[in-house]
Amino acid sequence: MPIAISAKNLVKKYGDVVALDGLSLNVEQGTVYGLLGPNGAGKTTTVRVLTTLLMPDSGEANVSGVDVIKDPEHAREIIGLSGQNASVDENLTGRENLVMLGRLFRLPKKEAIEKAVNLLERFNLTDAANRIVKTYSGGMRRRLDLAASLIANPNILFLDEPTTGLDPRSRMMMWDVIENLVKEGTTVLLTTQYLEEADQLADKIAVIDRGKVIAEGTADELKAQVGGERIEVVVAENDSARAAQALQEMASGKVIIDGERVKVPVSGGGAKIVDAVRALDVAKIEIKEIQLRRPTLDDVFLSLTGHVAEEVKTEDEAPKKKGRH
Ligand SMILES: Nc1ncnc2c1ncn2[C@@H]1O[C@H](COP(=O)(O)OP(=O)(O)OP(=O)(O)O)[C@@H](O)[C@H]1O
Ligand SMILES: [Mg+2]
Repeated sequence: MPIAISAKNLVKKYGDVVALDGLSLNVEQGTVYGLLGPNGAGKTTTVRVLTTLLMPDSGEANVSGVDVIKDPEHAREIIGLSGQNASVDENLTGRENLVMLGRLFRLPKKEAIEKAVNLLERFNLTDAANRIVKTYSGGMRRRLDLAASLIANPNILFLDEPTTGLDPRSRMMMWDVIENLVKEGTTVLLTTQYLEEADQLADKIAVIDRGKVIAEGTADELKAQVGGERIEVVVAENDSARAAQALQEMASGKVIIDGERVKVPVSGGGAKIVDAVRALDVAKIEIKEIQLRRPTLDDVFLSLTGHVAEEVKTEDEAPKKKGRH
């Protein structure tokens, strides 16, 4: 597969703050690449560099083989961007915004209108088409913003946190739209703080922290790095050593005792729960709780970075609460 987006050793500093610290990535054509990281990790900065809005201090960036830094105008013809700070005009209607953008992209008036009508339909905004954007809900604005980025039929689409702040239903709808775009051949780079979103949409995920890619792979590969499935049993604390002993035989690795909780690495999934219950029954140990745990991307982030995906603090900003879902 040809590479649609590539970044090599991108560095960007703001005074003492190192926003990008040698970031590299490659996105294959026709795939979805998820940039996953907490607040301040460098996601927006990466997107801004790749979309020609920001010059890096050093490093290289290409879209479809076009040098983003040396030839930004050409690069802009290839890409679409739906940003964290939406670019639509609040005082125009949804329809006016899209028609105006179509005109900016030099579509003849009739085509610009047709395109706007189609996109409004596709994003379920037809009923709100003639209202000014100021009156839109957050979800409607996100949808309009994504619609706006599709006016020029981009082959490569950058989506900076496309679903942050959306309710579950709007999020699903956004996922659907993105999945359909990819089916039609669009290459998508999206950023997200939602581990499940990267899991759902991305063919490949890069976990970024402090301006660097700290891990890359499919969701399954990343999960495998943290270890596979395990059964967790809660027993009376003075039973846990005996429980560990009883369960060791069925385990695929070393059983870990954590207070009253006994963690048993297994392969084979749900069926192993039955084995565990039997083994504990034979040993006459009462089970307070038992469950099969599959690693989530939350676990991945924690094990890679040593902190959960929610910390953020900048001087002028209260810590934002987002990230863990
Ligand atoms: N214009 C700027 N001036 C100074 N520092 C900046 C500027 N833009 C970004 N930074 C800093 O660069 C770092 C990376 O910011 P960036 O916006 O890329 O993070 P992010 O991963 O998009 O975070 P979020 O999830 O909050 O959107 C942060 O420490 C941020 O404070
Ligand atoms: Mg951001």
